[in-house]
Amino acid sequence: ANTALTVEKVGGRIGAVISGVRLGGDLDEATVSAIRAAILEHKVVFFRDQQHLDADSHEAFARLLGTPVAHPTVPSVDGRYALGIDNDHGGRANQWHTDVTFVPAYPAFSILRAEVIPPYGGNTLWSNTAAAYAELPEPLRVLADSLRGVHTNDYDYAAVRPDAPSEALEQHRKVFTSVTFQTEHPVVRVHPETGERTLILGNFLQKLTGFNRQDSRALIDVLQSHVERPENTVRWQWRAGDVAIWDNRATQHYGVDDSDDHERTLRRVTIDGDVPVGVDG
Ligand code: SIN
Repeated sequence: ANTALTVEKVGGRIGAVISGVRLGGDLDEATVSAIRAAILEHKVVFFRDQQHLDADSHEAFARLLGTPVAHPTVPSVDGRYALGIDNDHGGRANQWHTDVTFVPAYPAFSILRAEVIPPYGGNTLWSNTAAAYAELPEPLRVLADSLRGVHTNDYDYAAVRPDAPSEALEQHRKVFTSVTFQTEHPVVRVHPETGERTLILGNFLQKLTGFNRQDSRALIDVLQSHVERPENTVRWQWRAGDVAIWDNRATQHYGVDDSDDHERTLRRVTIDGDVPVGVDG
């Protein structure tokens, strides 16, 4: 289907709403490349009123952006690529992270579709990691360019969720760390499509290579503070039927865990990415 789409920014440094598109596997090439260009420019784009999407059409649309990849440890919903994020699957993504950075070629894009949204709360925040890099003072950029970090899915969930009940910890162990992955990435990657430099940090980053834990933590905290600075972020208040698509190579995101026990069900399809290249190639 051919569409006249409009793109309107919702934040100064990140985020735009795209309207005039009915997402699905039948979009023409011009529309797909306009969507792709908007994702690369705005880092995360939002679509309202896409209630018509189901698992099939979600995946068919995803194929227009690249190759869908299953999550390496979380079982897919109904044997599909779509990752279920809901109350029953330990799906509280309330730490800043970039999806699946614990594998060498982590996803390029994620497409998240809201099925059931709680009556309050449950927003998601995204941050622009190119803007975070760009605002670093020059000596810090030079240092960051030279750093490498180890990413793993085997992080200490109990340490980040001290209040989590033991069943939640057990569920997390079962679902997220059934297989342990560990990989090293440059802290600064050159984006393969835009050429921008972006920071690879987030929840799966365990340690900077060549530093002791204490120095590593302190350095990560300084860099990460620029990612979390409100000016570099956008916050989305979901309605059922919304779709968000983000460039996973240039963002981190955070699912706010403040809707108590109300149902919140989202479906995510991720698109294959490539192994990050640092500033020295
Ligand atoms: C995710 O990390 O992909 C999910 C974010 C959310 O649940 O808001």
